[in-house]
Amino acid sequence: MGNAERGVAVGELVGRTVLVTGAGRGIGRAEARYLAAAGANVVVNDPGVAIDGHGRDEGVATAVVDEIRAAGGRAVADTGSVADWADAERMVARAVEEFGDLHAVVNNAAIEVDKGLERLDEAEFDDVVAVKLKGTFAVSRWAARYWRGRVSDGVRADRAIVNTASGSGLLNPLPTQTNYAAANAGVAAMTAVHAVELRRLGVRVNCVSPSMVRTRLTTPVPGMAEAPSGGGPDPRDPVVVAPLVAYLVSDGCPLTGQVLSVRGGSIAVNHGWSRGARVTKEGALWTVPELAERLAELPLEDPFDRLATALGGALGVEGRDRFEAVVNAELDKG
Ligand SMILES: NC(=O)c1ccc[n+]([C@@H]2O[C@H](COP(=O)([O-])OP(=O)(O)OC[C@H]3O[C@@H](n4cnc5c(N)ncnc54)[C@H](O)[C@@H]3O)[C@@H](O)[C@H]2O)c1
Repeated sequence: MGNAERGVAVGELVGRTVLVTGAGRGIGRAEARYLAAAGANVVVNDPGVAIDGHGRDEGVATAVVDEIRAAGGRAVADTGSVADWADAERMVARAVEEFGDLHAVVNNAAIEVDKGLERLDEAEFDDVVAVKLKGTFAVSRWAARYWRGRVSDGVRADRAIVNTASGSGLLNPLPTQTNYAAANAGVAAMTAVHAVELRRLGVRVNCVSPSMVRTRLTTPVPGMAEAPSGGGPDPRDPVVVAPLVAYLVSDGCPLTGQVLSVRGGSIAVNHGWSRGARVTKEGALWTVPELAERLAELPLEDPFDRLATALGGALGVEGRDRFEAVVNAELDKG
């Protein structure tokens, strides 16, 4: 039975239990607080690591739980790492032990190590992919396994996964982000696969792709650090992503398999890779000279133009140029 049948308002999350990963800071923290304020029981997962994944501070997750409880909400902390298989299993189990069920997972955790390809080492690649891509897989996998067990026991309910990607990987070929961009593109791909696989269990799977949200990850971007003067609405506040996530986890939301970009108040559907213009050879086998001639007819996209357009749209021309200078300084390091 959905919200409408039960007379529950859209966005009302009383009785829903949601696990939010990386919920100790930034966007995840804002999501956890928003979901709890809408009535959800929230598992606040965060080991409290540095931007590059090093270190640990258990106080980061418990501080958010304290904030939620002080406001009258229900939350419990989990300080496991999404990149650790056993921790991922434990955070799903913790939701069930604490609140009796798990209705939704918000895969939000991420770290970043930005370097040009020739300086990026193996561990720096693996660590970023382990949190963003494998972590999304690991938590979703244990949740799916739990949900399959519920269905086998005859209990069906609306369940949801909300993944988190980034324009870096979906839209912008952002230099210095081999690891992060590849992981985010993988998360979008996984979203579509899981949406199709899990529908039979009553699980909807979507993905949000935040943009230009003021957190520690975006402070190097020119102009991001300052909040707007004058006290008006702040389109870069981490809370801008939270209402969409609350809708996506709510009982009765029909969406599945969608990747939605969020920038301030603008929400855009992403269509991902799609086949464009083509050339065709009768009999299938091209010669190389034929290819050289005919591929030139196709409207091939220049990655530099794509990056400039994406950054120009986000930062304006002057901001784009300043950001490119920051990125180029990183690339030029010996
Ligand atoms: N800020 C933006 O504008 C922006 C843009 C695009 C995408 N995103 C995405 O939004 C999400 C949140 O980013 P943010 O900007 O709030 O970053 P943030 O660094 O403020 O928060 C990320 C949190 O994830 C936690 N974390 C790191 N490794 C973890 C692990 N192994 N297990 C569990 N938690 C872990 C960190 O401790 C941190 O508290 C990320 O997935 C990021 O890729 C953000």
